[in-house]
Amino acid sequence: MKFLKFETYDELSTAAANIIASQIILKENCVLGLATGSSPVGTYKKLIEKCDKGELDFGAVTSVNLDEYIGLDGSNDQSYRYFMNTNLFNHVNIDKEKTFVPGGCAEDLAAEGAAYDKLIEDLGGIDLQLLGIGLDGHIGFNEPDSVFTKETHVVDLHESTIKANARFFANEDEVPKKAITMGMGAIMKAKRVLLVANGKAKWDILEKAFFGPITPEVPASILQLHPDVTVIYSEN
Ligand code: GLP
Repeated sequence: MKFLKFETYDELSTAAANIIASQIILKENCVLGLATGSSPVGTYKKLIEKCDKGELDFGAVTSVNLDEYIGLDGSNDQSYRYFMNTNLFNHVNIDKEKTFVPGGCAEDLAAEGAAYDKLIEDLGGIDLQLLGIGLDGHIGFNEPDSVFTKETHVVDLHESTIKANARFFANEDEVPKKAITMGMGAIMKAKRVLLVANGKAKWDILEKAFFGPITPEVPASILQLHPDVTVIYSEN
């Protein structure tokens, strides 16, 4: 496990984007596991800049996103599909047909989860998985629980996650109470994991996740067993 600390969010974002760019250079038709939340936004901006300068080519890349809110379709500006389009996909030369986000409006969510896992398997798994971390240690939307769930599944969001994510909505009541998330199986099978955590507010949970016991009560702690994790964090 590698820990890289930076003073500013800008430096953190540059470092994360350089790692993702390196992955695309290493394997141009790689599968990137992508994340939402505020932490990766700067990373996506840096990737867009590299693309604009002709330094990076997303032409052969496939992406699979971690999660989606239940009940929000891609046209809803709070959906994670919309987030990915506006923060990255619309601005780089990725083929949108090769960008995948779990369907939060699927009629049969269990079937949607199984199909998402099959898709990831058929793609040959994830080469690099980008993650943020929730204040309660969630990755994707794998919330603290009594077990680690392997498959893509539907979760009830915890009160603290709903509160934390309310800043993106008009008010707390509008935050969906459920989400569909990639499980720990696909995340742990990713060849590389890159976790970005912005600001001192994340330090406590980083310490618990990476230096405390491995427990589903702190979902990110499972990453202690992953052979190739880079954690990039910042002071400000
Ligand atoms: C959401 C996402 C997570 C993300 C987390 C932290 O809950 N589902 O994937 O890691 O937010 O977000 P932020 O980076 O804004 O703190």
